[in-house]
Order: sequence, then structure tokens, then C-alpha cells
Amino acid sequence: YFLGIDLGTSAVKCILVNDQGEVKASHSEEYPFLQPQPGWAEQHPEDWWTGTASCITALLKKAAVEGEEVAGIGLSGQMHGSVFLNADLQVVRPALLWCDQRTAAECEWIEQTVGIEELGRLTGNKALTGFTAPKIIWLRNHEPEHYAQTAHLMLPKDYVRLQLTGAFGMDVADASGTLLLDVAHREWSQTVVQRLGIPMEWLPPLFESNEIAGYLLPAIAELTGLKAGTPVVAGGGDQACGAVGVGVVKQGIASVALGTSGVVFVHDDTYQMDPECRLHSFCHGVPGKWHRMGVMLAAGGSFQWWKNHFAFEEQQIADAEGRDVYEYLTALAETAPLGSEGLLFLPYLTGERTPHPDPKARGGFIGLNMRHTKAHMTRSVLEGITFGLRDSLELIKASGIQITELRVSGGGARSLFWRQLIADICGYPVVTVNSTDGPAYGAAVMAASGVLKEDISELCERWIEVVERVEPNHEHQAPYDEYYEIYRTLYPTLKSAMH
Ligand code: XUL
Repeated sequence: YFLGIDLGTSAVKCILVNDQGEVKASHSEEYPFLQPQPGWAEQHPEDWWTGTASCITALLKKAAVEGEEVAGIGLSGQMHGSVFLNADLQVVRPALLWCDQRTAAECEWIEQTVGIEELGRLTGNKALTGFTAPKIIWLRNHEPEHYAQTAHLMLPKDYVRLQLTGAFGMDVADASGTLLLDVAHREWSQTVVQRLGIPMEWLPPLFESNEIAGYLLPAIAELTGLKAGTPVVAGGGDQACGAVGVGVVKQGIASVALGTSGVVFVHDDTYQMDPECRLHSFCHGVPGKWHRMGVMLAAGGSFQWWKNHFAFEEQQIADAEGRDVYEYLTALAETAPLGSEGLLFLPYLTGERTPHPDPKARGGFIGLNMRHTKAHMTRSVLEGITFGLRDSLELIKASGIQITELRVSGGGARSLFWRQLIADICGYPVVTVNSTDGPAYGAAVMAASGVLKEDISELCERWIEVVERVEPNHEHQAPYDEYYEIYRTLYPTLKSAMH
């Protein structure tokens, strides 16, 4: 078996995958999410570790699998989070997470200090509040006593790997989201690190995702039930692992991951820089490959917000019938006509990243009239989120990358109605695959690749199959193109009212 660990924001998920790529068992453990001030998001790295250790033990027990039967371990994790450790490897303060928005001033300083074009040329990206480098500068500016104690910087899952193996390391896929990596050359950018005045010795050695980065410590074997010496591969950030987990490992294939956020991810065999850096350009979890990515902050999150506050009756009916309330809501949306009779929804409920890097962007319904019902509003929420996904796909298209198919995963992928909407609005065939365990599955593939010495793309070819394919409905595409053109004008027009 291969153990895939995905260190998420609300919980850690562990799965066991056999050498045929089948999932034997999975288990999750939750941990607290802290918001000490508006816009701040933190977690205790110690909680990640205790959660992971007990999750592994529970999984082995549930699956009735012995530690000796686990041949390799792979880690996926929430990206960009800053784990600050002192020289004794103790955590200096809670980690600032990917969704933390406190670093706007630091981002501005970084772009001025390195030069916005130079930063793009060196790292492939622009300074965004969620990324790691601005969090380091924030620590130096606001908590100098903690900055002075720091001796090591880690990303969330690398901290967990350190506990498992005692070894430092970071993969280039996850390191791409620090803003300190020379993404083109897959190494730390000495220039950026020096210009920002960050000590080079804080940064761990770099690996490709399927490289073995350490071996399980005897004490941890005792604690978890795993076997001492089991190889642990470097793994990747949750987006790279999620993409591997649905087989996005070849030119032409893109994925849409519909969780709280909505991520459009496309594989790229070569590194090309987007001069405006509107998409993220990162190293892929496939060695020697790259990917482009657009991140919407509230995709499933917008639909969840709608469900939480405006679907009491649907929730009651769904509970009484033992159905999923989202199923009920998508069925309601389906009763409204295409385009929701001119009602457009802006999904910027928590600010936005792609294509508008703006923490102050806000959502809205535009075009309400007396004919509109809850069905129209529900449909327009789904359409607005999907227009937001199309924004990222348009940027990918403009960068010259051809897309042949979209692999949709996450909670939103369960709805056939939403998948058809994505196909119709975005204009690509939409498929779902047999692997539905997300980033944890990708982490297990990386572990298998490292241990079996087989390419990640070959393993994906053998293990991952398309199960359902939805083609765009040509009659729907033209009217959606018109609505999309209107949608695109709304953010620039309303931006000043949002700020
Ligand atoms: C990617 C990103 C999120 C987090 C969430 O850039 O910020 O996907 O990794 O887990």
C-alpha cells in the first residue's frame, strides 16, 4: 500500500492505495481554524501534527493494515502557509495561512523592492497576499521578536514531513507558491531572497515531488503503527497533488477543482512566462514540468454561502427526504431559464485572486427585476461562479495553451447540471474520473512513483480512467457568450464602489 496524506485547512485526510491504484480505506481528523482578527487566518502546526499522527493510526486500524504493508508515504498540503521554527525546531508562532489577507502593505513593498517586472521575470508570479514571502516580511515588520527567533521556514506539509522523518525538505511545486523560487530553473532565487533580506539558510533543500525526502523515524513508527524506515516522498501542494490525482499530467488536459475555492489548472510541458502574471506559473508535481493556475477564492464557497443563508426550506425538505440540500438547490436552479433572465451574480465574496487580484473585491446580484425568483437567483449563483472559472480559462487560452478537456473534481463535480453548465459556458468537454479522493490520491501516486521508480504519468495512465463525459451544448454556447461579455464588464465598472 501507499499512504497519501492531505493536510487540508479544515482537516487532514489519509488514504491507503494498493498497487493497482485502488483506494483501500480513508480517514479524516479535523483541527481548529483561528481568525484572531478580521482577515487573519492561522493554525497551530502542532495541531496538524497531532491530527496527522492520530489519523494515520486510525486509518491503519480501520483498514486492518499492518505498518509493514505500507511501502511509501506521500504528502499533500494547503499551500503558501508560513511555519516559522526556531533552531530547536520549535514553532515560533501560529502559521499564517494561504487565505490570510493581512499582508497587502508587504506585497506592495516586495513589488517595489524587487521591481514588479523583475519579480515576474525571476519568480513567474506577482506578490499576492496569500503567498509566503509577504508573510515573512510581515513577521519582520510586526513581530520582530519572533523574526529574531526564527531559524527555519517550512510550508505546512513540510512541517509534518519533518515530524515524520526528522529531515528538512520542500518540493518545487509547493515552493513555487512562496514567491522565493526561480520557477523556470526549479531552484531558490538567490536574487529575490537577498533583495528581500531573508536569510538563505532558513530555506530547506528542494526536491521533485516523487523524490524520497526522508525515512520514517523509529519513534514515529511506534506512535503511529507504521514501520521505521518507510520512505517518505517530498509530495506537493494540494493543487499539484489534486491535478496528479485526476491525471492532469499531460499537455492539453486541464482541471477544475470545485471546493471552497475554484481552481483552474493546466499542465504545461515547457515554462513560459506570462508578462502580466495574471495566472500563477508554478512547477508541477510531475518532475521537469510546469503548470498555470487561476484561483477563484469563493467558488463552492459562494454556493455554500447561498445555501447557508437562503435555503432554510430546501434544507428542511432535503433533511426530511434524506437528500443532499445541494442536489435540491441545483434542481431548483434548473427550473430557471438559461442566463437567469438577465440576472448576473459576482462571486467575489472573499475578495478575489484570478483574474482580479483584489482583496477588496465584493460580490453582488446585478440586474434584479420583479420576475426573478429564488430559482433564478440560485441559477445565477452557479452561472456567476462558472463565468469566474471561464475568466481563468480565457487567460490560459490567450497564453497559447490548447485545452482538449476539463477534468472536474471536488464537491461541485457531483452535479451533472453544474458540469453541463461548465461545458456550455467554458466551451470544453467536461469529464469526471474514477479517482475521487483528490490531493490525497495524488500524494499516494507520488509515493508509488518514488518507491516503484515508475513515472507519475505512467501510473496515472494505468490507474485513472474517465467515467463520464459531457459535451458543450452548441445551442447554449452563443447566449452564454453574450452573458459572459456583460459579466466581464461588471467588475471594472463596479470596482470603485467595492473599495
Ligand atoms: C492555491 C491555494 C489553495 C490552498 C488551499 O494557490 O491557495 O489551493 O492551497 O488549500
